[in-house]
Amino acid sequence: MASSSSVNLEDVPSESLMTELLRRMKCATKPEKRLILIGPPGSGKGTQSPMIKDEYCLCHLATGDMLRAAVAAKTPLGVKAKEAMDKGELVSDELVVGIIDEAMKKPSCQKGFILDGFPRTVGQAQMLDEMLEKQGVKIDKVLDFAIDDSILEERITGRWIHPASGRSYHTKFAPPKVPGVDDVTGEPLIQRKDDTAAVLKSRLDAFHKQTEPVIDYYWKKGIVAKLHAEKSPKEVTEEVQKVLS
Ligand code: AP5
Repeated sequence: MASSSSVNLEDVPSESLMTELLRRMKCATKPEKRLILIGPPGSGKGTQSPMIKDEYCLCHLATGDMLRAAVAAKTPLGVKAKEAMDKGELVSDELVVGIIDEAMKKPSCQKGFILDGFPRTVGQAQMLDEMLEKQGVKIDKVLDFAIDDSILEERITGRWIHPASGRSYHTKFAPPKVPGVDDVTGEPLIQRKDDTAAVLKSRLDAFHKQTEPVIDYYWKKGIVAKLHAEKSPKEVTEEVQKVLS
């Protein structure tokens, strides 16, 4: 595999180089932040993540996206994860902890990270703490996307995503400019296999049984900020900015 150092910068358009240079200059002054986004399916974690990522110069590590990429590529990890994901159940702690540990080493995580969809069990939270302790760092804030279950079915069944970028749309709440097409690339949008009312029931069940205790785990550490995730995307963004500023 070619290393990033083998990229010929002469072939990169000047505009892209300048944009990246300006981004790095802006990011140089940003303080480090390590965040966890926690909430049920459809609560808006993936919707708010790009804004947080850009504003605070963090990497966005979404275990669901990573697992879906592994399933699509039919890697050994993907083959193991597929069955649980299709049913709306959680994949094993060992599998997800392994991918997060690896992903955090990326240079884009230098200023910190947004963990979206991880940890989802108290076991994962404990393993994460151990990992971070070895690096001499800790989680700064846990954003709890609190929302009533009854709102989520409409959000989940109306969602369309652009798999390559992770951009998320909604037929009613955030429609693309052209139906079924990504605004930025013009590529087709898809619906996730687990975004059905039936699978949502299992996903919510897993959330209440296995993931809600994770909120208590961090609550005891005094780092949880509760958001009103039923509000409009713009209002939720304002709440996030208030909490993180
Ligand atoms: P994952 O991909 O993490 O799915 P999820 O947690 O179920 O979260 P979603 O992506 O469905 O919701 P979101 O909160 O990001 O919602 P979004 O912003 O898109 O996980 C999938 C599977 O992978 C799991 O079931 C499991 O099998 C496995 N997995 C992943 N991590 C794991 C782990 N750590 N351990 C074990 N297994 C793991 O919003 C939804 C829709 O609503 C969008 O269309 C959006 O446009 C719209 N919307 C968003 N905000 C608003 C708003 N404020 N008002 C109106 N509409 C809104």
